[in-house]
Amino acid sequence: MFKKPILGLMFVTGIGAASLALAHGGVKNPIVMKRMMLMSSMAENTKILGQMLKSQTPFDPVQAMAALDALSDLAHKTPEAFKNPAQDPKSEAKSTLWDEFDTFTALSDDLIQATATAKTQLKSQTDLRPILATIGGQCKACHSKYREK
Ligand code: HEC
Repeated sequence: MFKKPILGLMFVTGIGAASLALAHGGVKNPIVMKRMMLMSSMAENTKILGQMLKSQTPFDPVQAMAALDALSDLAHKTPEAFKNPAQDPKSEAKSTLWDEFDTFTALSDDLIQATATAKTQLKSQTDLRPILATIGGQCKACHSKYREK
């Protein structure tokens, strides 16, 4: 029963500041840099929700809704940001992403859907737990297919 939310939370915590700072340092291709910055923004907004859940920051429903809106917006922009199969030695994108771009786009749509559902569910701090589990699961669904780890 509790296994899924905890796994989701671990995932969210795992993409903390340390991995962010390292991830896109030294990237030369501007298209690759841009899509990595988009993904860093995904992590930042997810982190806002994670910190509220763990009471590291006060629960603020307005800010939480804004983070969900930001995630939705970023998911909308994901296919466009990745459309160009630009390469960089630092990129973690798998080349299958461009062979299966429809699937990649569908996974972005799933995240948009998850944020929309989350907005209807968010009433209190504890709601952040299942919300983060679901959203974290959507990040992971795409990463496990199209991001090298
Ligand atoms: C539809 C696919 C997809 C979804 C959904 C997705 N990502 Fe990503 N993400 C990628 C790919 C592909 C890369 C590797 C990009 C590269 O290195 O060129 C990536 C890279 C990242 C990176 C590393 C960025 C960097 O600076 O190198 C972070 C952090 C990240 N994603 C966080 C998230 C979070 C958090 C979510 C969910 C809220 C999410 N992603 C949802 C596909 C996705």
